[in-house]
Amino acid sequence: PRYVALIPAAGVGARMRADGPKQYLPIAGKPMLRHTVEAFLSSDRIAHTYVVVSADDPLIDSVVPSGGVTVLRCGGATRMESILNGLQALRDTLRDDDHVLVHDAARPGLTAGLIERLIDAVGDDPAGGLLALKVVDTVKLRGAEGSVSTVPRDGLWLAQTPQMFRYRLLRDALAGARDPAAVTDDASAVEAMGFAPKLVEGHPRNLKVTLPDDIRIAEMYLAATDP
Ligand code: C5P
Repeated sequence: PRYVALIPAAGVGARMRADGPKQYLPIAGKPMLRHTVEAFLSSDRIAHTYVVVSADDPLIDSVVPSGGVTVLRCGGATRMESILNGLQALRDTLRDDDHVLVHDAARPGLTAGLIERLIDAVGDDPAGGLLALKVVDTVKLRGAEGSVSTVPRDGLWLAQTPQMFRYRLLRDALAGARDPAAVTDDASAVEAMGFAPKLVEGHPRNLKVTLPDDIRIAEMYLAATDP
């Protein structure tokens, strides 16, 4: 089975308060999405990279390199819908047991080293797996009635991407999700089917660029060496 990357890049980046979609904002002299795509192109484990954008995206062709990348113009209204549309567009291209690494365009700090760490750690596990970070802060929960309590952080992880699953499992999990709004990552849909995806230690450099200041943090990590 092959390993392929699927990058949803059809968001509008509302929290970034920028002029255009955040995946095109310049980071260290290049559009964010180009850094993200190049991480996969630099790994010899990845057979092909697919990018999902909206049908009317005017910028994508100037951003993706010509070899090894295919653009799918089938973005949807939500992240989950964009991914599901991408998977459906690939039904005659991918086999059921191919591994799909879904990775947010907004995480440009990914490296070939982290991709390989995920692939090696998950191995043949049918449940797949994802990069994640152990929670280091003390976690508070504010209840609806104004109560505040402390959640034991033992066993708590923050999900990153890539999240890697067999093609068929991922498509079935997303297509069958009962509450699409609750599917904020791919693993949650797979967990709802009774699987326990493997949590693989990620790295802070793989942060999701969400707020304006995150750009400078991402640039600091991009200037640093591959973990
Ligand atoms: O906005 P957020 O950072 O949560 O988006 C995560 C990823 O999902 C981004 O790469 C974004 O482009 C993508 N996305 C998408 N289609 C949408 C919404 C978000 O591909 N409708």
